[in-house]
Amino acid sequence: TRVPPPKNEPVLSYAPGTTERREVQAELKRMAGEQIDIPVIIGGKHIRTGKTDTVRMPHNHQHVLATLHEADASHAEQAIQAALAVKDDWARMPFQSRAAIFLRAAELLASRYRPILNAATMLGQGKTAHQAEIDAACEAIDFIRFNVHFAEQILGWQPEAAYQTWNMTDYRPLDGFVFAVAPFNFTAIALNLATAPAIMGNVVLFKPSSTAALSAWYIMELLREAGLPDGVINMLPGDGPTVGNPVLASPHLGGIHFTGSTPTFNAMWRTVGENISRYKQYPRIVGETGGKDFIVAHPSAADDLEALAVAIVRGGFEYQGQKCSAASRVFIPESLWPKLKPRLQALISEIRMGDVSDFRNFMGAVIDEKSFKKVSSYIDLAKSDSGASIVAGGDVDRKQGWFVKPTLVQLDSPTHRILREEIFAPLVGLHVYPDAKYEETLREVDQAASYALTGAVFARDRKAIDTALRELRHAAGNFYINDKPTGAVVGQQPFGGGRASGTNDKAGSALNLVRWTSPRTIKETF
Ligand code: ALA
Repeated sequence: TRVPPPKNEPVLSYAPGTTERREVQAELKRMAGEQIDIPVIIGGKHIRTGKTDTVRMPHNHQHVLATLHEADASHAEQAIQAALAVKDDWARMPFQSRAAIFLRAAELLASRYRPILNAATMLGQGKTAHQAEIDAACEAIDFIRFNVHFAEQILGWQPEAAYQTWNMTDYRPLDGFVFAVAPFNFTAIALNLATAPAIMGNVVLFKPSSTAALSAWYIMELLREAGLPDGVINMLPGDGPTVGNPVLASPHLGGIHFTGSTPTFNAMWRTVGENISRYKQYPRIVGETGGKDFIVAHPSAADDLEALAVAIVRGGFEYQGQKCSAASRVFIPESLWPKLKPRLQALISEIRMGDVSDFRNFMGAVIDEKSFKKVSSYIDLAKSDSGASIVAGGDVDRKQGWFVKPTLVQLDSPTHRILREEIFAPLVGLHVYPDAKYEETLREVDQAASYALTGAVFARDRKAIDTALRELRHAAGNFYINDKPTGAVVGQQPFGGGRASGTNDKAGSALNLVRWTSPRTIKETF
């Protein structure tokens, strides 16, 4: 192989006085002082459709950060034509040349674009500097470098030959375009959804989340500057069904690369089903959706109480609980609760929340009014339900930003709604179980929620760990032992889940990349 085995991009500290802090502060200032007008991008052309939406700061919702032009069905059709027009040239470009474009993008992102993408992710998506750094910088860079590396390995594999026969595998991209649909919560995921199929030689229609349109715009700028030819990735911001339905009805749909909610993914499957006889091929459908991610502690975690408390707080409240991997249901044995409870209350009371450009804050606001209202209704439910008690938090404040205090709710029933339904906000449900009922609790954790994305078990007893691995075999695609269930690192913990959490085609791994090829086997007899 020729692509060097990648190493994970180091996480910069943003401590006072560092260069990275100065650089990102300059970008924060610039972006807060201007109002970018984000176009639809088709075949490299910027189209201002006139039908606009706004990107606002979650922590200051009156501040319009950018306007974005929304695509409609006619733009979707134009984008399909633009992608198909460059499809063969892109597919025939030698892999080495495609790799060079993406590796250059990774270098640009590690340097000049780093503060730009970080600042856009902080202001537009409500991340702190650290949360932006591990997403828009490190994970995004890692996705590109590891994917190029894995792609080279996949493309290098050839079948056995015999003396009279020559056998070859021709790694064709899909015969059509890939529809990449991104969520608001990770800039790196948006970048990966669009670039992974392109690295394998596919052309892409990229629909960013409107709330994350600012970072999506800079991703497109980064790729253009790295030398990505026009038309390979086309950006269609806008309303989901307005853009999605005509795209999904195209006979040229080759695949879907999706991250977002379970209901949206289900709706896309249905639309694909309705259109099934129109397609030239069966579209590849790859999706990562919701989660109801657990932390289960065993009584033998007594020695690690501080690690457990930190995992609950970081796993549950970093990025306001808006990671699909966020810990949102916690199961604690009775024997640990008397010491753990005051420790959790102390840690949560120390959390600073506010403007993400103030580097002392650990949390910002939730993404938008819809999210704020949803979590508020669950907090009201917790307050009015006699089987629920608020251990910490429980306050919300919408005056300037969509602020929700980190909230921990104790539930008497292990199958309470708050322990089953995805809330996607800083609200963690917790149930205290009798020590003797560890195995029974594991079975309840397995059965209670329909999701299976991430989960964690805290135990020092090896048998307890093995029991959890066995009982929760299908309850999480990413399973953590004595660590929080967030923060998967590309190349180290390939990410994805099953059941209602998605198709588990591990992002940032060869398992994902092979979905974007349609290999042709060629046999020649001499
Ligand atoms: N990959 C992200 C994490 O593990 C979602 O937190």
